[in-house]
Amino acid sequence: MLLHVPEVLTTDELAQIRTLLVSAAWADGRITAGTQSAQAKHNLQLPEDCEATRIAGRIVLAALERSALFFTAALPRQIFPPLFNRYEGGMSFGNHVDNAIRRIAASGTRVRTDLSATLFLADPESYDGGELVIEDTFGEQRVKLPAGDLILYPGTSVHRVEPITHGTRLASFFWIESMVREDDRRRLLFDLDMSILRVRETQGDTQAAVDLTGCYHNLLRMWADV
Ligand code: NI
Repeated sequence: MLLHVPEVLTTDELAQIRTLLVSAAWADGRITAGTQSAQAKHNLQLPEDCEATRIAGRIVLAALERSALFFTAALPRQIFPPLFNRYEGGMSFGNHVDNAIRRIAASGTRVRTDLSATLFLADPESYDGGELVIEDTFGEQRVKLPAGDLILYPGTSVHRVEPITHGTRLASFFWIESMVREDDRRRLLFDLDMSILRVRETQGDTQAAVDLTGCYHNLLRMWADV
């Protein structure tokens, strides 16, 4: 499932993150790439352990905490601390699948990458190219979102970032280990949760709404690892 989560960041948070990134020390993006993806990756990235990454990452995590849509779609168990990348002057990232397991350097904790997320930080009018292209069961999806919006997609997807032909593309990216590992189960829970919300909005807390909510929680109990 591909899910667009709009307005994850407020205007203030976006400004704070951009200010932190402007003066940060960018490095070659291959610092976090696996062997195959290192061949395909041509971008700039902030080191995991730098001050700007930590502060901007905390802003992103706090913003995610507020997002009910992100929570119900991802059902996060662990979130890899957000990283930041920059593409300009023809940079791109060719087709690849993200590594299945990522280790958080600071703690040594391993995170299984059930979901990948990209949070767009530059206004789409300020750069040309740079679309995130995700191959899913319905074909290629080309994604370029307003600054502050996020796309969530399965970690199993082949994806790439198209070359930048003008301007600078800034983004945060990270991975989520979900309480529900399987994409199809997570999708079913998400659809059920959204349907229950609509039933409650249109019909109130009827007995049917209570029963359906029970089904949601009982499925979650059956499938979740916490
Ligand atoms: Ni990737």
